[in-house]
Order: sequence, then structure tokens, then C-alpha cells
Amino acid sequence: MKSFFRVSDIGDLRLALDEAAQVKANPLGWQNLGRGKTIILIFFNSSLRTRLSSQKAALNLGMNPIVLDIGKDSWKLETEMGVVMDGDKPEHLREAVPVIGSYCDIIGVRSFAGLTDRQADYGENILRQFVEYSGKPVISLESATVHPCQAFADLITIEEHRTSPRPKVVMTWAPHPKALPQAVPNSFAEWMNAADVDFVITHPHGYELDPEFVGGAAVEYDQMKAFEGADFVYAKNWSSVESYGQVLSMDRSWTVGRAQMEVTNNAFFMHCLPVRRNMIVTDEVIDSPRSLVIEEAANRVVSAQVVMKRMLESL
Ligand code: CP
Repeated sequence: MKSFFRVSDIGDLRLALDEAAQVKANPLGWQNLGRGKTIILIFFNSSLRTRLSSQKAALNLGMNPIVLDIGKDSWKLETEMGVVMDGDKPEHLREAVPVIGSYCDIIGVRSFAGLTDRQADYGENILRQFVEYSGKPVISLESATVHPCQAFADLITIEEHRTSPRPKVVMTWAPHPKALPQAVPNSFAEWMNAADVDFVITHPHGYELDPEFVGGAAVEYDQMKAFEGADFVYAKNWSSVESYGQVLSMDRSWTVGRAQMEVTNNAFFMHCLPVRRNMIVTDEVIDSPRSLVIEEAANRVVSAQVVMKRMLESL
């Protein structure tokens, strides 16, 4: 595996889920695979789960993980080509990326969307430069438009809890005080469309996601109708794609609470975390026995380990 951004990079999902189950049952079974190898994890933005689960996955495989917070542990990096570098960024990605590549075997990059220029964000400028100039396999640890390690962990979690061959999975927009990127819903939609589930997306008008990621999913603007008979409810906020990066609504009737969950098929509640309680979901729902949020986070180690294992196997 040369890169991990899109669901197509993982290939057959059934094989990937079987491999995830093997890795979860025997996490230290491939300790020799990563011996003498190094992964550098680059963070342009904050993280709790991605940072820790990626390091844990690398250690399980016998690799040496090195974590770098850009601008805190390193120089601030210029990411645009052709600029006169007379500001506060003393180094350009064009030099920094090949230097980083020379120190490691695999690179992971977290680089959120700026949410001001849709074309630039959807061009994945930073991730693309890591692919072009590092000469090493690159993992998106949530880039401007995708969060594949999260979506893979979410699919593993659904696989572990589904009780029917084709469960109904509903992804709902929920309110949030700040503008958030579309990376998590984009990847979740892409992965659910590729999985054996009945997938529905629900959101207020104005929050339509990029059609490339929505694919053939059903879109239902009535949240209660969408929730009927759901086996899994996946809540997430995202900012508008059309009115790019804007918060159009803070309507708390979309907060996932008891009323919505009561029309489901005793659904499991899912969220990638971090979550704003009583904005995205009520305390009652997230603290209920049907909440899978901690299991999803735990499965981030499994998804990262499968991806790193495949990359090590193809070095
Ligand atoms: N879900 C997720 O990616 O969490 P962090 O932002 O804490 O890494």
C-alpha cells in the first residue's frame, strides 16, 4: 500500500475487516515486521486519539514512531508555492518534506482544512506535497477532506456490533458552535457506501456534502424520518460546503437525544470524538449502554495497525 486516503486504497473491505479482526486478536503478532523501521507522524493540528493510537499501532508493529508538531516542535512551514517568504514562516514544505522523508519509512500527516478556500482545501495541497516530495508511503491522519483511519475504525466497530447482514446506518448532522471541516463525514459516507449497509445521511438544507462523497447514499432532510428503524446512528457536525466553511444553523432540535433514539431499532450511538455534550448529543444518549464512542476510539489502534502493516509489507 503506497498511500492511505480513500476507501479504494484498502481494497476489498471484507478482507480488510478480517485482517482487522486478526490484528485485534493478536496485536503483537507482527512485532518483527517493523523492526528497524521508523514512522514520522506530522501534526499541523491538535489531536488526542490519532496521535496516541498511531503511536500505539506503530509500537505494536515494532516500529519507532516520531511525532512532530509543526510550528511548535519545528519551524513554521510555508505551504504555498511562489510566495515571497518574508513573513513568520522560515521554511517551505518543498524542502521540509524530502528532509522528513529521508529520516523515515512511512509518514502520517494531519493537516485540517482551512475552511476559507474550498478549491484549495479539496485540492489537498499539503497532503499532495508529502506524496510528491517525500518518496515514502503517506497516511492521512485527517487531512483537508478525508479521515480514513477514523472511517475504517468506525466500520470495524459496526462490523463488531451488527446483528443483521445489512444494518441501517444513519449519519446525522448535529449543531456545533464552530465551523468544522467535512473530512469525517466525507470519509464516513465514502466507507459506508462501499460497505454492506443501508446508508442514509440527514442534515438541514444548506449542509449538503460534496456529491463525490455522498455517492449513492439516500439523503433525508427530516431527521426523525431518517432515524426510523436505524441500527446505528453516527452524529457529526460539519460546516457548509456550498457556503464554504460557514455555520448556517445552531438548531439544537438536531442534537441527538432520547426522542430521536426512540424511533430507531434500539440503535447504537456513534461519534468520532471529541464531542461537545448537549450540542451534538445529550448526556443521556452518550452515557447509555448503546453508546460506542469509546470502542470506536479503541479501534483506531486496529485500523492504524492494519494500514501500517500493509505499508510495511509492501516496502
Ligand atoms: N477522532 C479523532 O481523530 O480524534 P483526534 O482529533 O483527537 O485525533
